[in-house]
Amino acid sequence: MKSKGEATISVEHVKKVYATKKLEYVALSDVSLSIKKGEFVSVLGPSGSGKTTLMNLIGTLDRPTRGKIFLDGVDTSSLDDNQLAQIRNQKIGFIFQSYNLVPYLNVLQNVTLPLMVEAKDTPENLERAKSLLIEIGMENTFEKKPNELSGGQQQRVAIARALVNQPPIILGDEPTGNLDTKTAEAVLKLLTRVSRENNTTVLIVTHNPELTEITERSIYMKDGLIERETKHKR
Ligand SMILES: Nc1ncnc2c1ncn2[C@@H]1O[C@H](COP(=O)(O)OP(=O)(O)OP(=O)(O)O)[C@@H](O)[C@H]1O
Ligand SMILES: [Mg+2]
Repeated sequence: MKSKGEATISVEHVKKVYATKKLEYVALSDVSLSIKKGEFVSVLGPSGSGKTTLMNLIGTLDRPTRGKIFLDGVDTSSLDDNQLAQIRNQKIGFIFQSYNLVPYLNVLQNVTLPLMVEAKDTPENLERAKSLLIEIGMENTFEKKPNELSGGQQQRVAIARALVNQPPIILGDEPTGNLDTKTAEAVLKLLTRVSRENNTTVLIVTHNPELTEITERSIYMKDGLIERETKHKR
């Protein structure tokens, strides 16, 4: 399929209505945005403004009520659930709030699991998994099981796991939410590095205005709409 310019992520007039038995709730009313390959973008906005909803839609975990989302020029609305699952595996690294670590696997096994699944567990890739963990301060935890880790440590395992296959797109929903300032900085440095070195497109939701300075562009959401955007010097 033809690529739409340089945009890795293209959201066109997306509306999302959550329907419950009693009422309908418009979480996104009309959102359009375009993110270029290799861009590092942050999403901000008050609680309930639709940030997670937008991330879920871009990550193809849910479908819009109206409008379209293109990933690398592919219209995701034209794909069935199996094709979407394939896109997710190949293209997207998720750092979401439920970390979904496998309880009976240790830290290193959790991080290398995506490599095993894709049969990419080469010595070089396994080494990269270790250095990712070391880069975010997890060097002494390789043998630990998830239930022996703090929330912030589990979050870091999920971050390393999202990056290990070097996906072209990283989506993070408050990826530093449970981390102290120093560890959060290490994670953001890591995300900055992958966006520069691998041309990875990174989109993160954060409540911390200071952290957004590191990103190239911030998108502010309010009441299911994009209120404004700002660009940052890096
Ligand atoms: N599955 C759902 N069913 C019904 N309403 C939902 C559902 N998920 C989210 N909503 C509603 O949609 C709105 C947007 O929710 P969303 O989770 O996208 O907000 P958010 O910006 O991520 O907030 P936060 O900063 O608190 O994480 C909220 O009012 C929420 O109550
Ligand atoms: Mg949210």
